[in-house]
Amino acid sequence: EKPILVGLLGLGTVGSGVVKIIENHQERLMHQVGCPVQIKKILVRDIYKKRDVRVEPSLLTTNVTDVIDDPEIDVIIEVMGGIEETRQYLLRALRQGKHVVTANKDLMALYGSELLAVAVENHCDLFYEASVAGGIPILRSLVDGLASDRITKMMGIVNGTTNYILTKMCKYGASYEEVLAEAQALGYAEADPTADVEGLDAARKMAILARLGFSMNIDLDDVQVKGITSITEEDLNYSKRLGYTMKLIGIAKRDGNKVEVSVQPTLLPDSHPLASVNDEYNAVYVYGEAVGETMFYGPGAGSLPTATAVVSDLVAVMKNMRLGVNGCNAVAPQYEKQLKSASE
Ligand code: NAP
Ligand code: HSE
Repeated sequence: EKPILVGLLGLGTVGSGVVKIIENHQERLMHQVGCPVQIKKILVRDIYKKRDVRVEPSLLTTNVTDVIDDPEIDVIIEVMGGIEETRQYLLRALRQGKHVVTANKDLMALYGSELLAVAVENHCDLFYEASVAGGIPILRSLVDGLASDRITKMMGIVNGTTNYILTKMCKYGASYEEVLAEAQALGYAEADPTADVEGLDAARKMAILARLGFSMNIDLDDVQVKGITSITEEDLNYSKRLGYTMKLIGIAKRDGNKVEVSVQPTLLPDSHPLASVNDEYNAVYVYGEAVGETMFYGPGAGSLPTATAVVSDLVAVMKNMRLGVNGCNAVAPQYEKQLKSASE
């Protein structure tokens, strides 16, 4: 059976997990899609770097052309991060008819509409499940599982790094710098963790969730953001004594066509279910008019959980290839939004 050939952009925390899952779950993947999956080429910055995963040295390249312009490669998996350069690579890949799977919320929050439009024009799939809440299949749940409902609110913890930091500071009295370094070593934080701790990473994820959940064009500028950098150990100790837990909470609400999206540190009573979501774990409540309240919980960052979402997107692409329906899944925002003003 002819294998599906994949080009990987990036072999860091998430990329290593992708390689491991494709290798270790090959039988399951064959069963799902009916043919083997093979990584043909991997773009990295440094081919001599020591890595968490063993790969044939001949697979590695520092020349992006070897990956995105290879006519034999069917699917590009983008797990390198970055915005402008990556956007150009993915546009180039889509215009050549390659399907794309990405974990890049920075890119999808800013240029998702453009990339999805180019994907549709070229009959390509563009899936990005891993971009929000790591291993939790939240995007597919919004688009497929809750497709029949009218979603009115989403609320939760969507950044693993800050949740890890707040958990360790609050429970063990660890210092901010110490736990941020741990979150970086564990692969939860972004290459530059500023976006995590300033709330921008969570804001990007809330924009993606709101766009899909409300079928509206939500821009990153529409999200009010406050991160955790001003929170002190004293704040956490004081709130603990009063029976509260501090969490970085994202909220997206709609009332008719009025929307409000925000990310901010929030004190929750210890009895609140989100107060016991600890470490790098994420949780998202979704409120639908018909379904009521649903909660999605799981690891929000890290190599294998995130890679599970990436490889599941790859399976979705391959199933579509078998059926010949690639490019039909893009969800076009349908409703005009109105931002809720602060006075309302
Ligand atoms: P990472 O560990 O920093 O890995 C990035 C990889 O991409 C490295 O292998 C690096 O090569 C390569 N790379 C970066 N820029 C490159 C360039 N300009 N040219 C060639 N190669 C380049 O990052 P990560 O944590 O895996 O994250 C990757 C993406 O997934 C990001 O968009 C991130 O936001 C997203 N994400 C991460 C997580 C997580 O838990 N880490 C979860 C969800 C989504 P070298 O190895 O040679 O340096
Ligand atoms: N840096 C991100 C986080 C990775 O901590 O949630 C997962 O998107």
